[in-house]
Amino acid sequence: MTKLIAGTSNIVLADSIAKILKLPLTYCEMSQFNDKEISIVIKDDLTDQDIFIIQSTSCPVNDRLIELLFIADTARRANAKKITAVIPYYGYGRQDKIVDSNGPISASCVAMLIEAVGISNVITVDLHSHHIKEFFQIPVINLYVTEIFAELIKSKHSSNVSIVSPDLGGEMRAKKISEYLNADFVTINKKRYKAGQCEAKSIIGDVSGKVCCIIDDIVDTAGTLCSAADILMANGAKEVHAYITHGVLSIDASDRIDNSELKSLYISDSICKLGSSLSKKIQVITIAELMAKQLSNLII
Ligand code: R5P
Repeated sequence: MTKLIAGTSNIVLADSIAKILKLPLTYCEMSQFNDKEISIVIKDDLTDQDIFIIQSTSCPVNDRLIELLFIADTARRANAKKITAVIPYYGYGRQDKIVDSNGPISASCVAMLIEAVGISNVITVDLHSHHIKEFFQIPVINLYVTEIFAELIKSKHSSNVSIVSPDLGGEMRAKKISEYLNADFVTINKKRYKAGQCEAKSIIGDVSGKVCCIIDDIVDTAGTLCSAADILMANGAKEVHAYITHGVLSIDASDRIDNSELKSLYISDSICKLGSSLSKKIQVITIAELMAKQLSNLII
């Protein structure tokens, strides 16, 4: 028997996935002690079940991650048959290499923790870099929103579209969409000064008169995005839109987007933004179908 369990990070998306799969969703009782330790209670019987835990490790990332680990540990101790972690947004993904000589590879530490609690499969969406999969010894399915975004772009902007990568690191992701749409491809040279502070320095390609669609995996402080929109407009773009998988949207990102040259921003619902006041320029599209389709392939 299959059991879908929702962590607390994204109950809306978990609910939609469960509805599509026509499966009941198990909720956890989560509480916190005064010292912020987390406590998890799952009332259902998990013995001999095929468990799927749906949990984004989004902000507050450490709590969400620990919650995922505790749910998996509960399932393992209850003798669940198999445990799959369904992680729409993989936190710490950007820390995928050593930056300073003695730094950690945080994305790899997270992978080790996930395996240590008995999770035997991972399904995730648009990892920051493809090589994060190599940090795992267990199978990892990394789903892409390429088709969803490409079809959306096709329906929103009739022609004259340029697909833009806001930095060199994101070229592969954006290129896939430009190939799908047979559209022009442009890259921006970005300089990052420190976390949350960057500047678009130059454009590789011609954007004059073009409808520019920026493709990226994460919008966090929106520094990358707004700076990209500025330089594109300064170089003669007709208008600038963005299609970004994970709406981290920290600090004052939403206000920044409101006051930017950007005309619209589409994000997925990999991170739940219920209760936050989002800029009117932001629209959320669901990846529930994409995820449910993948889950249904694994459900026996
Ligand atoms: C960077 O490599 C990522 O792909 C994103 O471009 C970056 O994380 C966005 O961050 P922010 O919105 O803070 O500029």
